Amino acid sequence: MYASLRSIGAYIPSKKLENADFEKMVDTSDEWIVQRTGIKTRYIADASQATSDLAYEAAKIAIERARIAPEKIDAIVCATITPDYFCMPSTACVVADKLGIKGAMAFDISAACSGFVYALSIAKSFIESGMHQNVLIIGAEKMSSIVDYEDRTTSILFGDGAGAAIITATDDKKRAILDVKTASDGEYQDFLITEACGSRNGCSQEVLDKKMHFLKMKGNETFKLAVNTLTQDVFDILQENHICAEDIDWFVPHQANYRIINAVSKKLGMSEEHVVLTVGEYGNTSAASIPMALNRWYEKGEIKKGQLLLLDTFGGGLTWGSALLYFNGD
Ligand code: UT7
Repeated sequence: MYASLRSIGAYIPSKKLENADFEKMVDTSDEWIVQRTGIKTRYIADASQATSDLAYEAAKIAIERARIAPEKIDAIVCATITPDYFCMPSTACVVADKLGIKGAMAFDISAACSGFVYALSIAKSFIESGMHQNVLIIGAEKMSSIVDYEDRTTSILFGDGAGAAIITATDDKKRAILDVKTASDGEYQDFLITEACGSRNGCSQEVLDKKMHFLKMKGNETFKLAVNTLTQDVFDILQENHICAEDIDWFVPHQANYRIINAVSKKLGMSEEHVVLTVGEYGNTSAASIPMALNRWYEKGEIKKGQLLLLDTFGGGLTWGSALLYFNGD
């Protein structure tokens, strides 16, 4: 028995932030943002929307497209670094309730931008072990809740959104998730960090005044590591599975920066026509980035059943991962 990606769905909030909006907020320019990142717009959730609201909308679409009854879902894995609540309940439990799902295993995972690929790996193991038949995986983020809109080095990069997928069992290897690789190196824990309000620096007026609850990033150092790690990652997974870059229909990298995607694609020898690119439109949506990108290309009619996809991701932790899979959606 194999696991397969049966469906994909996404939710994009309605409020659009253009580069020109940032020119009014911080010392930046459309030219700098486009040249250094490729980002032109990003979408931001309403103050009334929490991450679970975005996740719920994406999950509804994925469930409909999989043509599966919600009660048949055995597990819900939600990847997020911006959960509804600080400790509990998990965002996955809140989403389960919104979907009317009772009794399923539900939990969140924290692997930053690599969260969706980590969730895919967990779902694959659940299904291959025979423990579960149908798993809902979600990558959802309200990055605007941890972004400091006075910090030009981070605020321009991130957007909100959610993507979801149904992972089901199949006996057809040509429709299966072939391999998922996940890894981490905590030595670089301070490259992307929210220093408070966890058990290290509790939530106090002092940490709020020092803005320690906002995301901070060593951008340039992260950039260099990202290019090398992402490249090595895709070479390894292709080699271990005896698959050439030319066999890949769609390369779906984490959407953090156009320059990173371009550098990795070139090293891989992937031409632009085979690279899924949404960073210009959505910005970096962390764990939601890959499923939102998959959904965009699926809705454009580009990703079709039986096509071979290569996912590649990198994020805070540091964490990274890649996946090789045939798309099994309709
Ligand atoms: O999703 C998780 C993984 N994340 C990533 O992979 C992100 C990786 N990093 C990046 O994408 C890039 O490093 C950034 C887009 C964040 C920054 O680009 P960069 O080419 O690495 O720029 P830099 O940080 O080296 O900064 C260059 C200059 C600095 O000024 P000085 O010191 O040369 O005077 C910055 O202060 O650009 C300045 N700068 C800006 N200028 C205008 C930084 N942010 C801005 C800005 N507008 N928004």
